[in-house]
Amino acid sequence: MNSDSTSALAYQSGFGNEFASEALPGALPVGQNSPQKAPYGLYAELLSGTAFTMSRSEQRRTWLYRIRPSALHPAFERLERQLAGGGLGAVTPNRLRWSPLEMPGEPTDFIDGWVTMAANSAAEKPAGISIHCYRANRSMERVFFNADGELLLVPQLGRLRLVTELGVLDVEPLEIAVIPRGMKFRVELLDGEARGYIAENHGAPLRIPDLGPIGSNGLANPRDFLAPVAHYEEQDGPLQLVQKFCGELWGCELQHSPLDVVAWHGNNVPYKYDLRLFNTIGTVSYDHPDPSIFTVLTSPTSVPGMANIDFVIFPPRWMVAEKTFRPPWFHRNLMNEFMGLIKGEYDAKAEGFLPGGASLHGCMSAHGPDAETCAKAIAADLAPNKIDNTMAFMFETSQVLRPTRHALDCPQLQNDYDSCWATLPSTFTPNRR
Ligand SMILES: [Fe+2]
Repeated sequence: MNSDSTSALAYQSGFGNEFASEALPGALPVGQNSPQKAPYGLYAELLSGTAFTMSRSEQRRTWLYRIRPSALHPAFERLERQLAGGGLGAVTPNRLRWSPLEMPGEPTDFIDGWVTMAANSAAEKPAGISIHCYRANRSMERVFFNADGELLLVPQLGRLRLVTELGVLDVEPLEIAVIPRGMKFRVELLDGEARGYIAENHGAPLRIPDLGPIGSNGLANPRDFLAPVAHYEEQDGPLQLVQKFCGELWGCELQHSPLDVVAWHGNNVPYKYDLRLFNTIGTVSYDHPDPSIFTVLTSPTSVPGMANIDFVIFPPRWMVAEKTFRPPWFHRNLMNEFMGLIKGEYDAKAEGFLPGGASLHGCMSAHGPDAETCAKAIAADLAPNKIDNTMAFMFETSQVLRPTRHALDCPQLQNDYDSCWATLPSTFTPNRR
């Protein structure tokens, strides 16, 4: 048995690369993907993340060489305990904000503590994106995969060990991880508790954005994305395999660990990225660039420039713009914005937006700095200053996000959110420019 996850902690760097890794020497077949007899008596299995006939630049697929093929499982049965969050709630154009969800009192693993907050579409017809939060106080003993989309994990509290089919990723707050659609994994807690956010991407796989006139460097650099190395478990005994399929949890009992991939090669891989390595680019003259300048990852749609999801961060950075209202401007956007806070304070809000909390500003909803932040920004001495000790982020999507019934009914919903703008005064003076 090879189940000591810590011995597997090594990473391969790059984004979208054709990676290759083997936990035993010579386990990767040479010269072909599915030889008649794979080395060590392994089975060859393909995991495709895109349709076979997508353009080569869009292709995501990985060949797995494993002890037992994934096909070896009994029928899945619908689990009695489903994901929390319930179905979608009423449509609302209102601005919404939530305090951090409570940590669970009962023993709760990553799946039990998963709460759906908002989605573009009903869970039984996955499309666009879905947004969830997780809370956990115990490691998973079961293994999970999501047939409905790719998962972007944003830890806010507590380190996670993601033991995946392709190897192990340790992820801490201020890092993110992405797990491809269908990839099996187990979430172990390295601290007593964990909490964070999940963007579930039902669209094209996430990628780093094109840089346009920025050039060939900047934002998230490819070398800072880390994929795991091969690591396998050879383990007998009952183990529950759970999948999410069209929003529902189904489970079956295996007599072996499905994390038994001894070697693999391909570009459909889990990966992690340290947000502290983001090369933040901004104005050195005047005005406030659009927040798209802070895009870490994007999932494009068929409309050029219109994302299914952009993952955008607001990291520590120098503010040097002259004659400029420096917080985010007041705005009404086409895109729908779900924000979270990993640490510190967000520069558009004086209070109420807490680490672990969230806000939702839908298409064309008017928002921006609260009254207190606005007054300070207008009066500020515009010497260079550094916004530090902070990390906010945004899941931005082109389709309307509908909150779930749970999100609308939970006690963490702040019923007085609108009041943060209520005291914005008129400072209009028609006889003085
Ligand atoms: Fe906004």
